Amino acid sequence: MNNSESTASLIQAFQGAGQGQVFRYFDELDGDGQAQLLAQAATIDLAEVDALVAEHINGEHSSSVDLDGLTPAPYTALPANGGDQAQWDAAVEAGSAAITAGRVAAFTVAGGQGTRLGYDGPKGTYPVTPVSQKTLFQVFAEKIARSGERFGVTIPWFILTSEINNDATVAAFKESDFFGINADSVHFIMQGLVPAVDYSGKILLAEKSKIAMTPDGHGGSLRALVRSGAVAKMEELGVDCVSYFQVDNPIIQCIDPAFIGFHVLGQSELSSKMVPKAYALEKVGHFCMQDDAALVVEYSDMPDAMQEQTNADGSIRFNGGSVAIHIFDRAFIARAGSTTSDLQLPFHRADKKIPYVGADGVIVTPEAANGVKFEMFVFDALPLAKNPVIIEAAREDDFSPVKNAEGVDSPKSCKRDQLRMFVRWLRAAGEEIETDESGVPSTWFEICHLFAADEADFVAQWAALADRPAIVEGLIIE
Ligand code: UD1
Repeated sequence: MNNSESTASLIQAFQGAGQGQVFRYFDELDGDGQAQLLAQAATIDLAEVDALVAEHINGEHSSSVDLDGLTPAPYTALPANGGDQAQWDAAVEAGSAAITAGRVAAFTVAGGQGTRLGYDGPKGTYPVTPVSQKTLFQVFAEKIARSGERFGVTIPWFILTSEINNDATVAAFKESDFFGINADSVHFIMQGLVPAVDYSGKILLAEKSKIAMTPDGHGGSLRALVRSGAVAKMEELGVDCVSYFQVDNPIIQCIDPAFIGFHVLGQSELSSKMVPKAYALEKVGHFCMQDDAALVVEYSDMPDAMQEQTNADGSIRFNGGSVAIHIFDRAFIARAGSTTSDLQLPFHRADKKIPYVGADGVIVTPEAANGVKFEMFVFDALPLAKNPVIIEAAREDDFSPVKNAEGVDSPKSCKRDQLRMFVRWLRAAGEEIETDESGVPSTWFEICHLFAADEADFVAQWAALADRPAIVEGLIIE
């Protein structure tokens, strides 16, 4: 097929699918504009758009989740909360062996916009540590590098970006010389885009030469891992455990031997960490069971009254908060991320104000929602996975995200949580340190994660130090 034939057949395909309006201004465009529109249109899966419109716009589909028969999901408790210490020790051993064998990769989803934080750049470039103001990406890079050093391997790191922030993310890594880690072990993957539609199911134009497209959600990461060749790369490297975390959470144990061990020993396709909710209406997903399958129900899909239900002893019934920390089995990603497999993540509908080119060719900025964006959520993979494992995590060791500019889950609360964590590590190593009643030290200091990735690591590293520094204001233990 020559160029003009392929252009004609693409336009025909859109017309045939009832989406011919995408090319309404085609003849007005210059060569570059036409090329841009054609290139974008060629990436769109019209059959998928058709199915989404049939289900979410024209169909009976309601965005509310079926709450019938939901019960809280069981989980393995931490030893401190009644779990079996021997079982946790065995998990640490199995996880350490898997890391040493090179079976583990890190995977950060960083394709989102970070709008709530009011920060313009890629969220991973946001400074978060209390003393040296290291960025989120640097914290992860150091933890991953240290875990690799500890276990004698190079841990590959896959990072999901989107069209919105890919170039800026790659540039930030280059400028920082990949934070000292081997650039060959870092793999950027761009997530896919889905067109936005109006309430009659018509694809919207953002400009005459540009379709309104939005990232396909973190659930799109599974497809992106397959499509980009990352899954094949993992296979080549011998990686089968993929440690998944969000870009907003610097407290995370990126490579956690116990978690990996539970995943491996449980022969799980998808393992998750749960954190008991801080309060009944905390904005986290809930680990639940329904028809014998584990699933996550978002806070926005669970009525407040249900979130507030209590057990006989007054404790919160749906207590299992999902903090978006998982281990994926590589072969499971290959299946759930293949567009032809029977395991497909559903799309969710979000009604939004979407600027569009109106009938007179002028861009309209709507004041109320005028259309729909579609997103996949990665936790929807949970009911599709065999042998899902859910373990409890201590919030203070794994979860203090930076989401909002102020208040809860803000840069300030996260810095204080990091300081408290450093204090706990030092105390575990036998040191005395003065704090306020909330555990924040009066002297602000930092532990570099190239020195220690987690508490057990710190205790061993500190004990091995010939010259232990005094804890003074501004100290960086490195
Ligand atoms: C999310 C979870 C929630 C969980 C909470 C924990 C959803 C819908 N909810 O909420 O269950 O309890 O985190 O912190 O996810 N991202 C992409 N591509 C996208 C969209 C998002 O990579 O297209 C990434 C973001 O960069 C971020 C993460 O996914 O790292 C979470 O996105 P965000 O929209 O901030 O989720 P929350 O509403 O905070």
